[in-house]
Amino acid sequence: MDIETGRILSSSNSCRGTPREAAWEITKSNPHTSLQVLDDHDGPSPEEESSLMEINVQSLLKEIDAKNGVAQFDLEISFEFRNLTYTVPNTRRTLFCALPKFANCAHPGDSSSTSRHVKLPASPSVTLLQNLSGKARDGEILAVMGPSGSGKSTLIDALAQRISREKLSGSITLNGQEVDGHQLRNISAYVMQDDLLFPMLTVQETLTFSASVRLPACHTKAAKRARVSTLLRQLGLEKVADTIIGDEGCRGISGGERRRVSIGVDIVHGPLLLFLDEPTSGLDSSSAYMVVKTMKHIADMGSIVIMSVHQPSDRILGLIQNLMFLANGQMIYMGHPKDLTDYFTKFNHGYPIPSAHGNAAEFALDLIQVLNCMPGGIKPLVDRFKSIRASAHEHSSSATTADQRRPCDLSTSSKAVLHPAIPTGISGAIAASIAKGRLMSTSGYVEHCNDSATLILKFANSRWHEIGVLIWRCIANIRRTPELFYTRLGTVIGSGLLLSTIFWQLDHSPKGLQERLGFFAFAMSFTYYSCVDTLPIFLQERFIFMRETSHNAYRKSSYVLANAIVYIPFLGVLSLAFAVTTFWGVGLSGGVHGFLFFFLIIWASFWSGNSFATFLSAIIPNVILGYTVVVAVLAYFLLLSGFFRSRDRIPDYWLWFHYMSLIKYPYEAVVRNELMNSSLAGDNAAAACYETAGEIFSATPLSLLLSQPKIVTVLEYLRQNYMSGTAYQNLNTSTCMIDGAAVLQNQSITQLGKWSCLGITVAFGALYRLLFYVALIISAKNSRR
Ligand SMILES: Nc1ncnc2c1ncn2[C@@H]1O[C@H](COP(=O)(O)OP(=O)(O)OP(=O)(O)O)[C@@H](O)[C@H]1O
Ligand SMILES: [Mg+2]
Repeated sequence: MDIETGRILSSSNSCRGTPREAAWEITKSNPHTSLQVLDDHDGPSPEEESSLMEINVQSLLKEIDAKNGVAQFDLEISFEFRNLTYTVPNTRRTLFCALPKFANCAHPGDSSSTSRHVKLPASPSVTLLQNLSGKARDGEILAVMGPSGSGKSTLIDALAQRISREKLSGSITLNGQEVDGHQLRNISAYVMQDDLLFPMLTVQETLTFSASVRLPACHTKAAKRARVSTLLRQLGLEKVADTIIGDEGCRGISGGERRRVSIGVDIVHGPLLLFLDEPTSGLDSSSAYMVVKTMKHIADMGSIVIMSVHQPSDRILGLIQNLMFLANGQMIYMGHPKDLTDYFTKFNHGYPIPSAHGNAAEFALDLIQVLNCMPGGIKPLVDRFKSIRASAHEHSSSATTADQRRPCDLSTSSKAVLHPAIPTGISGAIAASIAKGRLMSTSGYVEHCNDSATLILKFANSRWHEIGVLIWRCIANIRRTPELFYTRLGTVIGSGLLLSTIFWQLDHSPKGLQERLGFFAFAMSFTYYSCVDTLPIFLQERFIFMRETSHNAYRKSSYVLANAIVYIPFLGVLSLAFAVTTFWGVGLSGGVHGFLFFFLIIWASFWSGNSFATFLSAIIPNVILGYTVVVAVLAYFLLLSGFFRSRDRIPDYWLWFHYMSLIKYPYEAVVRNELMNSSLAGDNAAAACYETAGEIFSATPLSLLLSQPKIVTVLEYLRQNYMSGTAYQNLNTSTCMIDGAAVLQNQSITQLGKWSCLGITVAFGALYRLLFYVALIISAKNSRR
């Protein structure tokens, strides 16, 4: 039977826990094999449905069985790479690379941490991987070994397609079909060398979060809980399920357990392919063995596991079926670890591997080290491997079956080739994987990718579900670290009280006016500066976020929205605390309405300041640099807010920055709220007088010469001779000369009403959240630079 289109239908009804229950539709109309995954939102049209025959996976596999005599679990999934070559330019200098500790940038051939400075390039480019070919199958672990700097991580990154394809040549195929980064992301997982986990969550919570976002909504809560329990058992983490992950400051689970949690987070949905970069590094031998045993178990369940490993013990080598040895980016061995001793004994001119070496892998590492110091380098090893590979290839093309345990086995034979009825290509691999109980997320929410022939699911859940789960995690984290929130609340209350005592009950004199304006400028800039502590929060989460979104655990937009939703009420509490401690203490006007507006504008300022700092944390990947930039920019915002120099006196070429200043709008809003008491008599009525005619000489040297009776006489003289018929025909010492409107005019606060200023401040907050999202899309690609 020739299967040309396999289609999984999924809906809340059709998703019944096991992948085998997914309904399949098979047509013979399409010349290319393809598999489409659909859901409620994107089901086939009624016409389409009627023209398609539905059978389930079970019956499809039985059919294959019957026709070919192949057991259903013998359906092979193979991941093959051919002639992979990765070349990078020899000079890599960036601003961050030039600053020690600011970035982790490696220079070609420069593995020492002390030589970070740029050297003059010996050649324009350096090849990190040279013509590497190999194959990994489900049920097996493909381990990549080699000395430090041999290219293990680079190869794992290349296979996981975390390297830009322009610099990488060669092919990467899944069941014979070229696979691209987008497709791979949906069916694979990548476990990084570092354990990137939230330290304050427990093991169970961490895995539950992962199950909640990676398993589709049609899996019930109970089913997700069951999956987490299974994982805890498989990973040997049952005992520590309720222990927090911990970090340097707060002791939690052990390093080996943390590594297994990291793996659990990425395998919760049963990925078809699992890439791991040095999962055993830093672990003692029994923890390392436990981790590799878990990997073997995952492979046995039908996944392909590809991992790099440093000096595996004999016990670990016993769990590995396929070993690839690299040296200087070139392959020097590929085959079963059992054959390693034989292979290197032969290379050693027939002498057995000296007993001083614990195992053949250790001997190979030492041999590479020795050869590297000799004139010919590792060339003899590479040449030997090439010649054996060439003869193996010749042999395999003449033989009908290949010996899977033969060293340097690069034959393309597979059961899919032997039995053409078995679905080939990516769709075939996915079908086989589902049949083996993997890829549990396939019946989830679906988004179409560009490839019209193959619709692969992108996210397991709807946006709202993701936002809900992310909010839950964020709140759980905050609840475990209440001291952070209370410290911030304490700072805000303390600053509010301090300001109140300094600016206690300001009067309406000319000096009182100046002090009032000073208070507003300081209070508004304080709200922005106090948001700087947001900066390290995302920087800490950044790599967790990148790891999670790199394999589509959730949408980046869900993260941005959840983050904003969690912050808004917290910022509201801070704003209320600040408003209550300052409004009546300083003696601001406007009564309840004035207070409510004051509270709202503080809240809006916290919101836009928080968004601004969050945005900067996405574009500046370093805390010190981030603080420097944010503090400087806020200082410029304050400088050009209109307080130090009014708008009409700011040089034209700086006006654009005045309008961009985040502090300008809340500052103008609070000044307006104070000076124009809209609650009493409309927006144009003066709320208070800041200078009477009797006070006009008070700030001048004339005040020493003119006593109060003399001022009364002067004013009387002016009134009688010059004021008749004018607004000042009743001029006396208490006539108001400078009211709120005049101050606003004087300060050039004339263009926007206070509600417009509030609206613009809120909009700025939204704009910076949007920019944060854009920055995440651009910068957080989780790929090597
Ligand atoms: N982007 C890059 N530009 C230039 N050189 C690089 C780049 N990435 C890696 N290298 C160099 O390529 C070599 C292989 O690096 P890789 O990280 O793959 O080694 P590794 O085998 O994983 O080493 P380790 O066991 O120490 O982790 C190293 O010499 C490294 O300095
Ligand atoms: Mg490495």
